[in-house]
Amino acid sequence: MARSTQVTPLGPATPTLPSFSLNFEKSWVHVLVGYASFLLGICIVLLLSMDTVVNNWSINDFVGDGYAFLTPIATVQSAEELNNQYNFASNWGLNELSKVGYWMVNSSVNAFVTKSNSIFVVSVGWFPMASGSQDQCKIFQTSYPLDLSQTPNPRLALASNLVTYYRGNALTHYFSNDRTVNVATAPISSSGLDDLGYTPGRIGVDMRLTTKIPLVNTSSPQEIDVTFYKFYPKSICTGCSTVTELGFGHCNLTFIYNDTTKRVKITNSNNILGTTYKFGLLIPQSLFSSASHYVKVIAIIFAVGGFLASRRTAMWLEVDRNKTDSILAKILRMILPKYFPYPSHALRFDMFCYNSDIFSIFPTSNEYL
Ligand SMILES: *[C@@H]1O[C@H](CO)[C@@H](O)[C@H](O)[C@H]1NC(C)=O
Ligand SMILES: *[C@@H]1O[C@H](CO)[C@@H](O)[C@H](O)[C@H]1NC(C)=O
Ligand SMILES: *[C@@H]1O[C@H](CO)[C@@H](O)[C@H](O)[C@H]1NC(C)=O
Ligand SMILES: *[C@@H]1O[C@H](CO)[C@@H](O)[C@H](O)[C@H]1NC(C)=O
Ligand SMILES: *[C@@H]1O[C@H](CO)[C@@H](O)[C@H](O)[C@H]1NC(C)=O
Repeated sequence: MARSTQVTPLGPATPTLPSFSLNFEKSWVHVLVGYASFLLGICIVLLLSMDTVVNNWSINDFVGDGYAFLTPIATVQSAEELNNQYNFASNWGLNELSKVGYWMVNSSVNAFVTKSNSIFVVSVGWFPMASGSQDQCKIFQTSYPLDLSQTPNPRLALASNLVTYYRGNALTHYFSNDRTVNVATAPISSSGLDDLGYTPGRIGVDMRLTTKIPLVNTSSPQEIDVTFYKFYPKSICTGCSTVTELGFGHCNLTFIYNDTTKRVKITNSNNILGTTYKFGLLIPQSLFSSASHYVKVIAIIFAVGGFLASRRTAMWLEVDRNKTDSILAKILRMILPKYFPYPSHALRFDMFCYNSDIFSIFPTSNEYL
């Protein structure tokens, strides 16, 4: 019987192959750098775990902090019932809204109060009002119908319909001067904007609802710290699903009440520095946002699998000339290669987490903000 040629297994087990382990003396610098990168690694893993939990809408919705914003509309089923509970500003009432603007408010109010499964209620955070903060109060400066003999502690409200117009994009800004030439100036109609090349983009209704205001019957100005809720549905096309900005904050309002005309006028309004502004969102829970969660899970499984596989880079076939390989053994070797203790240290776990952060950013749908 002719002997078959000798098959030599490849790998570090063969004593004639050179050894690649570098046994240089570890200086204290190496030790220090090792500790520093270990600490940095722990920070990265902590930050990423926090990010995964805090920025997850399902978890945020489940925890339910965002439901505090339900307070001003808790006892209504639809927007029109708000007219019975609030004194809306004369020109900025619900009835003055466009049809689509009204629908945006009505459908968002209804989805929120019925705790619809089609939305996520998300609490974004609390922010202190500083001198550079965005103004939340100037919008209140208008006139409201009010009879203090009928409504001693009124709740005031307003709803302002807005359309944002756009012109050009990043490319046209770069290659032309459309940001500086022929720019629209304040009193202008929609046809005037059309002529200048603007197109309507985002539409929204900024609705504000105050809590009870302790006004008294006097003709002198009254300065009161009023708390208000903001309910601001926005959409990037007419009739599309809306994302609603929710807010809660304080305004320093100056009222002048006139008992003859039965009106109250807000003549001055400012943010109150040092107060807390709370911010939340109602986000549509669409097929896409659900799908993004599944895609994320699959991506994470692939990433973890890839990472684990990378720990077993030293693979080779141990040849047993007395046996033939079964198909089962071959498949088993493909998905679960035999472990030899020569792991790769090319990628540590924290490095792996840091580099896989793209998985947590990429599939989310932030297109509305
Ligand atoms: C507002 O929404 C409620 C509930 O969906 C609906 O019954 C009502 O007809 C809507 N009102 C208007 C004016 O569309
Ligand atoms: C408010 O005050 C005016 C005069 O100060 C008085 O005539 C009027 O009756 C008062 N109204 C109410 C609701 O108290
Ligand atoms: C209330 O309004 C009427 C009508 O505009 C005006 O004549 C009157 O002076 C106002 N009263 C006060 C106290 O401002
Ligand atoms: C409210 O505004 C008035 C002036 O309109 C100012 O004198 C007062 O200090 C303000 N109060 C607070 C708490 O900011
Ligand atoms: C193969 O079989 C022969 C004879 O049965 C035996 O001497 C030898 O040790 C076996 N080799 C291996 C690698 O199992």
